Amino acid sequence: MARTNFKTFEESTKEDWDIIVPHIEHTQALVADKIVQQLEHLRHDHGGFPVDRLEHSLQTATRAEKDNRDDEYIVCALLHDIGDNFAPYNHPDIAAAILKTRVSEKNHWMVEKHGIFQGYYFWDHIDGLSGDAREAYRGHEHFDHTEEFCALYDQTAFDATYTSNPLEHYIPLLNDFFAPNRA
Ligand SMILES: [Fe+2]
Ligand SMILES: [Fe+2]
Repeated sequence: MARTNFKTFEESTKEDWDIIVPHIEHTQALVADKIVQQLEHLRHDHGGFPVDRLEHSLQTATRAEKDNRDDEYIVCALLHDIGDNFAPYNHPDIAAAILKTRVSEKNHWMVEKHGIFQGYYFWDHIDGLSGDAREAYRGHEHFDHTEEFCALYDQTAFDATYTSNPLEHYIPLLNDFFAPNRA
């Protein structure tokens, strides 16, 4: 692949950017692979939970799929905790950023706010937190959508006896979703 050799952006030329811009498409085409690799990093990372973080993600997606949710929703379910081991305290921001340009505003808000809505089920058990934190968003147009995601799929996805689809099951979906133009 051709490569530029400027030392600063200030000295870069149109010819340089004609080389660089097509690479962005190539990088985008690899996003699905990176997502699978990152999900793999959640395997065996249980953090004290009954199931590890990959199983939780797969279980959330499987429950959504069995409920006949559409592909975009299933991808959101699968990725919602993908940043859990990068930024545990604000991990929803990582999934929301990855999904931002590819999902509806409604689903983006759901992923971005899922941590606070999930808190309804357990924050009262942790000093300094309140399960009512989501009430700050009561009346928001996507409140019910996000509440439903946590109630049906996220907070229920810690069952070690549940049989989830394996990660491999979701690879074609991730490829179609993040790299539709990949040969
Ligand atoms: Fe989460
Ligand atoms: Fe979760």
